[in-house]
Amino acid sequence: MNIQENISLKPFNTFGIDKKARFFTAVTTIKELQEALTFGKQKNLSIIILGGGSNILLTQDLDCLVIKIKLTGIQILEENEEEVFVEVGAGEVWHEWVQFAIHKNWAGLENLSLIPGTVGASPMQNIGAYGVEIQDVFHSLKAINRNTLELEIFTKDKCEFGYRESVFKHKLKDQFVICSVVFKLSKKPTFHTEYGAIQETLSEMNVSETSIQTISEAVIKIRQSKLPDPSMIGNAGSFFKNPTISFEEFEKLKERFPEVPGYPQPNGIKVPAGWLIERAGWKGFKRGKVGVHDKQALVLVNFGDGDGAEIAKLASEIQSSVEERFGIKLSPEVNFL
Ligand code: FAD
Ligand code: EPU
Repeated sequence: MNIQENISLKPFNTFGIDKKARFFTAVTTIKELQEALTFGKQKNLSIIILGGGSNILLTQDLDCLVIKIKLTGIQILEENEEEVFVEVGAGEVWHEWVQFAIHKNWAGLENLSLIPGTVGASPMQNIGAYGVEIQDVFHSLKAINRNTLELEIFTKDKCEFGYRESVFKHKLKDQFVICSVVFKLSKKPTFHTEYGAIQETLSEMNVSETSIQTISEAVIKIRQSKLPDPSMIGNAGSFFKNPTISFEEFEKLKERFPEVPGYPQPNGIKVPAGWLIERAGWKGFKRGKVGVHDKQALVLVNFGDGDGAEIAKLASEIQSSVEERFGIKLSPEVNFL
């Protein structure tokens, strides 16, 4: 185990925020992870688990131990003619794993192409895009209990998945480190092309026969046209979650703004936060080194050496402005550190 001190976290977060960790270590085995957790306990340090840093906002130097998860490996556990169960190490890069599965002709992950980050973080907020969420292909995960240092297995029902939610963000927050995820993928695909611009993009690409490969290519094309590439402009994807409001509230909103988009859910109507933020006048807003992306108002950006605290301040101003204008509270998707 190699513990480094006063390390800049700039290369380890996609917002590109330059804050330091008092202690930092990268772990490649479960034994190293257990050692690192023990080191933290002995020194009475707070511990922060880091994957690809694509869903965090660093607002301060971290007076704690940051453990970067680099557990790798892809292993078939079971397969038959219909499906395959694959265990994937938490430190594997998400998109590389998606491409691996597509290459093998295992279906289920194609709509989740090009999401940054690691496999281990994917259950944290039940990542989702283009009509699919990880819960649709999730079988189970293994995680180390931070208190006992024992490995525990979580089946799907124990993860309490919801829209950008899981038990690991709530009841079990900061209690487990996810070490691997078991996916259940299909050898006989069902295509999900109904969402957003997928169908349109497939036509533009002159695709005669839909396949998991072409769906992945279409999703990548759409994402590249809207979302900033973190290697060029710092960002963490959608900064806020899309709020769900009651059917009555939506009707009232529609009276004031007949063009407001809304997606029916069992418990109300989901309204795109990007629309609310754009209509509140923030799209393309720039102040100093931070701002709001000009192609997608839900994405806050760091144009250069912006500060996390400035982004947090901007986020809070956007929340107030949307609430004042529409009476809707936005909750962040990004984890503040
Ligand atoms: P990190 O940012 O490192 O960590 C996120 C949280 O998970 C932190 O609280 C961290 O402590 C915890 N964590 C990380 N790894 C572990 C582990 N092994 N065990 C326990 N806790 C852990 N998300 C979507 O859902 N859909 C999208 O379409 C999408 N698009 C994006 C586009 C862009 C350009 C960007 C920058 C981000 C996007 N995101 C999207 C958000 C982000 O990519 C996902 O949330 C991703 O799963 C985060 O992975 P990470 O490894 O970077 O996690
Ligand atoms: N919109 C605007 N203006 C904008 C942006 C969006 O009016 O500037 C409206 C449009 O009506 C558009 C609708 O919002 O049709 C939806 O926009 P988009 O398809 O870009 O999706 P989103 O709701 O903004 C969500 C996820 C993304 C995911 C995409 C595709 C959340 C918080 N975000 O974005 O996830 O990739 O759908 O499924 O649910 C992420 O979580 O980081 C993320 C990028």
